[in-house]
Amino acid sequence: MKLSFTGLSVERSGRNILHPTSLRIEAGERVGLIGTSGSGKSTLGHALVDELRTLGQSIAHVPQSPDEALDPLRSIAFHWREAERALGLDPNAARQQELFHALRIEDGDVGKRSWSWSRGMQQRFVIAMALIGTPDLLVLDEPTSALDPVVAASTMTLLREYLSKRQTAMLLITHDLGLASRHAERLLVMQDGQIVEDASTDQLLEAPATKAAQSLSTHRSWLQLPC
Ligand SMILES: Nc1ncnc2c1ncn2[C@@H]1O[C@H](COP(=O)(O)OP(=O)(O)O)[C@@H](O)[C@H]1O
Ligand SMILES: [Mg+2]
Repeated sequence: MKLSFTGLSVERSGRNILHPTSLRIEAGERVGLIGTSGSGKSTLGHALVDELRTLGQSIAHVPQSPDEALDPLRSIAFHWREAERALGLDPNAARQQELFHALRIEDGDVGKRSWSWSRGMQQRFVIAMALIGTPDLLVLDEPTSALDPVVAASTMTLLREYLSKRQTAMLLITHDLGLASRHAERLLVMQDGQIVEDASTDQLLEAPATKAAQSLSTHRSWLQLPC
């Protein structure tokens, strides 16, 4: 399913923090939304989740930290059941097993409270929960910034493998051009509340057209990671 909207904008405290923005994402496409801190990435992420849901599409959102998605007083199993219930789905052990296996969290004790799982496992669990309903689009806002680089890389690699066999598109929001270029085929560059560049990852790495993209490219950190 194609995902598109036009003229989306956001005003806060009398200031336009998202200028009118139009975007189209193809089914199964992996798109990176990059830009410096404060450029408006999260604003666009939240606005597009709201807009596309209003248009009837199934959109999942993974926040930066698992703390935002998990109640420390509740068990992992409780969160899973709630996520199924929110989607109107009956409990399905096979679906849970498939997603737990895909994100390599099948050895975690679901009877435990979330804080007893490692940060990496918590975030993988949050991603698995987001995939329960096979959404049209998965929006990940700085999904690995609370994780160490090796756990971050393997989480993104597992997710990419899972998505590669499905029609779920991905919007990866990050300030890290290195991360985005490893996992997205197309990159959108944000600056001052607007998308200033929209190009294939190869094209943007080879010849960034705008100052914003050139600056991200100059200051990128290319970590040598197994992904
Ligand atoms: N609720 C709000 N009220 C006023 N300004 C906001 C609000 N939310 C975000 N902003 C401002 O909008 C800009 C973009 O923020 P944000 O989307 O969080 O950027 P990013 O995710 O790229 O770091 C920032 O300058 C931020 O201070
Ligand atoms: Mg942000």
